[in-house]
Amino acid sequence: MEHGSLIYFDNAATSFPKPRSVVEETVRCMTDYGGNAGRGTHALALAAAEKIYECRTLLAKQFGVEDPARVIFALNTTSALNLALKGLLRRGDHVLISDMEHNSVLRPLSKMRVAGEITFSEFPSMTGDPRRSTEKILAGIALLITPKTRMLVTTHASNLCSVTMPLREIGAFCHQKGILFVVDGAQSAGHERISVDEMKIDALCIPGHKGLLGPQGCGALLLGKNITPEALGTLVEGGNGMASLERAMPLVLPERYEAGTLPTPAIAGLCEGVRIVERLGVDAIAEHERGLFRRARELLGNMDGVRLYADEYEGAVLLFNLNGIPADRVGRWLSERGICVRSGYHCSALGHQTLGTPEGGAVRASFGIYNDLAQVEHFAFALEEILRGV
Ligand code: ALA
Repeated sequence: MEHGSLIYFDNAATSFPKPRSVVEETVRCMTDYGGNAGRGTHALALAAAEKIYECRTLLAKQFGVEDPARVIFALNTTSALNLALKGLLRRGDHVLISDMEHNSVLRPLSKMRVAGEITFSEFPSMTGDPRRSTEKILAGIALLITPKTRMLVTTHASNLCSVTMPLREIGAFCHQKGILFVVDGAQSAGHERISVDEMKIDALCIPGHKGLLGPQGCGALLLGKNITPEALGTLVEGGNGMASLERAMPLVLPERYEAGTLPTPAIAGLCEGVRIVERLGVDAIAEHERGLFRRARELLGNMDGVRLYADEYEGAVLLFNLNGIPADRVGRWLSERGICVRSGYHCSALGHQTLGTPEGGAVRASFGIYNDLAQVEHFAFALEEILRGV
């Protein structure tokens, strides 16, 4: 797809450009069939409802959830996480989070802690530790469990570097201990295989607009089979087209959590995005991104004056600094050369602290399906120029 001569390496923020079929379906929804699902029984309301159900079904299949009613649409990963955290936690609970969490986990929990509702502790993800192993991560978690520990929250793939957490093993561990397991899939959905049921995840929070290639404006919370509507409180109440005479939200999945009009055009576009991911295959997408990562690491690793962070993990995200040059300046200079990256703290002060980046954070290049090796080489050349002061 044509998007001028820009090199877009900010796919961790949002994938760009969107595939043509995603754009076309989004538009088609607004021109051909986008009524308000659940509001009325006319043709366009029914067509919108059908499209939304189609997307729930595709997401359920992609993420190993048996019942599509367990796919709850949200605005984005952050709102899905807020619902999972605030809806499941009870006063007095203790929560474990990894030391690589995004503010979408840290801020809601910090607010709850300040209000005296919960406590939480950070467990070591061991990112960057040469002794890192799944056993050691689990041992670190076990050390922090208290009788009040009721939930563990972890990112699957970091938004700062390409480290991933061993979901299957952490899920089995939490299940055995009776601890709720919540996963932030913001960077892994569409890049890594995830199965809610097999990995014993209780709540998986994902965006539609990153690895799943959909438009911005819609994400989802996918619930494990043990979470009941009684156990998950609502965050937003209002009309959902059902039981209108009742004052309380009905105990029905997914409508209990979907008050107000859904972003049907974004959901329609997401349907096509998920289909493309299915067609290409998550493993093939991950391999393509790893290829770009390896080449970038090789080129940058051979330059004097480049510091790479946690680059032993191969994936879609490479974090670096140019010695002596503030990250935001590098980001601006790259932008002047037509290269889009994100610099600073990436909404993850905790992760930056774990990685030991300097004041001002670091520069992040994040790859996607439309990137190629020639772009990586152009990017490395631009960094060489910046280092030479050209
Ligand atoms: N969380 C997204 C990022 O890392 C927006 O850029």
